[in-house]
Amino acid sequence: MKNEIIAKTKVIPATLDDYPIVRNMAQLYIYDASRGCGFSLNKQGLYQYRDYKEYFENSDRAAYIVKVENELAGFVLLNKVCAYAESEWNVGEFFILSKFQGQGVGKEVAKKVWQLHPGKWEVPVVPQNRSALVFWRSIISNVTNNQYKEEMKDVERGQDQVQRVIFSFAVL
Ligand SMILES: CC(C)(COP(=O)(O)OP(=O)(O)OC[C@H]1O[C@@H](n2cnc3c(N)ncnc32)[C@H](O)[C@@H]1OP(=O)(O)O)[C@@H](O)C(=O)NCCC(=O)NCCS
Repeated sequence: MKNEIIAKTKVIPATLDDYPIVRNMAQLYIYDASRGCGFSLNKQGLYQYRDYKEYFENSDRAAYIVKVENELAGFVLLNKVCAYAESEWNVGEFFILSKFQGQGVGKEVAKKVWQLHPGKWEVPVVPQNRSALVFWRSIISNVTNNQYKEEMKDVERGQDQVQRVIFSFAVL
């Protein structure tokens, strides 16, 4: 069953036409991450989130929709806003819908994304998001044969300075 789902997992380049789909899924993403990160709803019952539109418009960014067979299963947003000068790509946002979590889909998606963009990578994780830390540590150590760095750093997010655990590594 797990292997069947992994075999049906697709990472599809997204265009501006797909932006509303990702914007809708972003509510579910932030809801899910709020378990660890404690985000609150606004008065309209929605989560505030950064506008992801630039991921669909700028050539130094990339957006992907995840499907399992033909069903929406998540999204991946990449940028080049890195904490280390030598890094080339940064995982901006990464989400697998709860229905598909815990079945190897996230691992398969991350591997596919790294195959599409080989080079030097960073993954920043909110320190309170314990399950994401376990997920990234497990897959990055596996893919790099333990050749990665994990460091807590202050990074800029908009006007704010925030702390992130940064995984950095190379994918050949
Ligand atoms: C974190 C997330 C991407 C993981 O995706 P997933 O499809 O559930 O992960 P997988 O099933 O591919 O798991 C891969 C590995 O991570 C581990 N893992 C994944 N989620 C875990 C959890 N909640 N607790 C402990 N380990 C976990 C698995 O045990 C697995 O290890 P293995 O390869 O040794 O079996 C997904 O849960 C998610 O989208 N969460 C909400 C949004 C979020 O936090 N995104 C990350 C932002 S940095």
